Amino acid sequence: MQDRLIYRRLLPYARPHGKVAAMAFFGMLLEASVAAAFTSLMQPLLDDALGARNSTVIAWLPVVIIALFVVRGVGVYLGDYGMALISRRVIADLRAQVFDRYLALPSRYFAERPSGDALTRLSMQVEQIGQASTEGVKIAVLDTLIILALLGVMFWHSPLLAGSVLLAGPAIALVVRFVSKRYRAISRRIQASLADVTQMGQDAILGEREIKIYGGQQEERERFAKVNEHNRRQHLKVTATNAMSSATVQVLAASALALVVFLATRPGELERLTPGGFTAFMTAMLAILPSLKRLTQAQALIQRGMAAAESVFEVLDEAPETDLGTLRPERVRGAVSFDNVTLRYSGRDEPALDGVSLEVAPGETLALVGRSGSGKSSLVALLARLHEPESGCVRIDGEPVQDYALAALRAQIAFVSQQVVLFNDTVAHNIAYGALRSAPRERTVAAATAAHAMEFIEALPDGLDTAIGERGSALSGGQRQRLALARALLKDAPILILDEATSALDNRSERLVQQALGEAMRGRTTLVIAHRLSTVERADRIVVMDRGRIVEIGTHAELLARGGHYSALAQTELSADA
Ligand SMILES: Nc1ncnc2c1ncn2[C@@H]1O[C@H](COP(=O)(O)OP(=O)(O)O)[C@@H](O)[C@H]1O
Ligand SMILES: [Mg+2]
Repeated sequence: MQDRLIYRRLLPYARPHGKVAAMAFFGMLLEASVAAAFTSLMQPLLDDALGARNSTVIAWLPVVIIALFVVRGVGVYLGDYGMALISRRVIADLRAQVFDRYLALPSRYFAERPSGDALTRLSMQVEQIGQASTEGVKIAVLDTLIILALLGVMFWHSPLLAGSVLLAGPAIALVVRFVSKRYRAISRRIQASLADVTQMGQDAILGEREIKIYGGQQEERERFAKVNEHNRRQHLKVTATNAMSSATVQVLAASALALVVFLATRPGELERLTPGGFTAFMTAMLAILPSLKRLTQAQALIQRGMAAAESVFEVLDEAPETDLGTLRPERVRGAVSFDNVTLRYSGRDEPALDGVSLEVAPGETLALVGRSGSGKSSLVALLARLHEPESGCVRIDGEPVQDYALAALRAQIAFVSQQVVLFNDTVAHNIAYGALRSAPRERTVAAATAAHAMEFIEALPDGLDTAIGERGSALSGGQRQRLALARALLKDAPILILDEATSALDNRSERLVQQALGEAMRGRTTLVIAHRLSTVERADRIVVMDRGRIVEIGTHAELLARGGHYSALAQTELSADA
């Protein structure tokens, strides 16, 4: 992205804060003016107070010094606080936008990239934009003002000498230009490496048990060392570039200084400058050096912020899920049909679903069986538009799913997915989640009871109000699954999808939950993916999938009699569980 484009996109975030920006700018102006006034004070100090012993100047100088620093204090406060005010707002706004976008992006987005990358964009990179816009911009503005003011002092005392100093300007500008390009390139690499660090940290934390059991520590350590080392090197490159560039800039400025000393000692010029005037000139010039140094170093901050802005805007430019449908039925009847549906995940040659056609009547219970990887989960995910098919059409009540408003479509579907996800909240809030939040407490309890979750919930320290911690890590797999079931039961939607929803339950719990599910399935369309014969044989029809295709459809008895895929499955895999 071009710099100009990035600036133009960042500006609107700061624009509403014009008044604060003006205040901050005024503060910096005060600070810079005091810096200039202070160096200019050298002349009366040397010439009038020390040289001519002028009593008025002697009396006033201490007062002026204190007054100047009071003014400077006010300036520093306005400048620092004003800039922070703006940048914290910009950070908060940008962060909210990125978070919002993450909520709206299609599942594909998250499947295609490591989560560490998405997380650092939200945490680190937004922060870096903020830093660039507080510290970076503050230094850029303040030190430019200081340099201008000091140049003013220099011109005031000797236009000829000041003019000769300006000769160093273009050379310094060239150096700064070169290093800022380099900073940008390094900053991008640092960002990528930080995403790697985050990702590895996440893997190590989430996978701590596997690492322990399988003795993966050494391997993880080595992988992490690589990422860590890469990150370290990149950071050192920034420091090296920084030190080198500010050293170069200082040498250039010192050359200008040498030129001044040379010129100032020429006979003609010396007579025109008082010792005080010359001292003021030199003080101003020396005071420029730290400002020049800060200005070149601020480039690193600013370029890092620009690289971060690039990648944050990349997220904001990602298209959210398409939501062009307008149908908003109160409650669908629950007729589901797949018409020659093909689904291919990005980066895969083999389609996950290959021309699948299937009709499910309202209220029907359909079991999906097949080897793992045969496409069962992919098929049911299409109903809720968690993925978009490459071709073919998925319909509910005869209408293509994309003709429904997304939220209205998903309101029709209760879904227990293969991987139960629980939030870092209380048990009650995990069951009555999202749109269900306002459900009355009795209904939450009823759903939990039906899912046979109440028995273990009651044993928790605060019952339904127990916080279950991150991802429900304190619960067993079966307990988590029962909470997910309770959540789905509470939703009471016309379409119920159970993707291996009872796989983690023991036989007794499963039988108990089966009763509740049997009741829940009555009057709603149910797609159930299961391995257990006991679950499958109860279904109205059974669909057998293999390699993305439907290979058999029929009732338990029909399929057994046929002696095909299903009867083979029933004898081996299905019955093995039962
Ligand atoms: N997000 C994804 N990205 C790429 N490939 C996927 C993704 N999800 C599933 N697949 C692939 O699609 C195929 C079908 O997977 P899935 O529908 O989960 O099968 P099942 O639920 O029957 O075990 C598998 O080959 C799987 O590797
Ligand atoms: Mg699956």
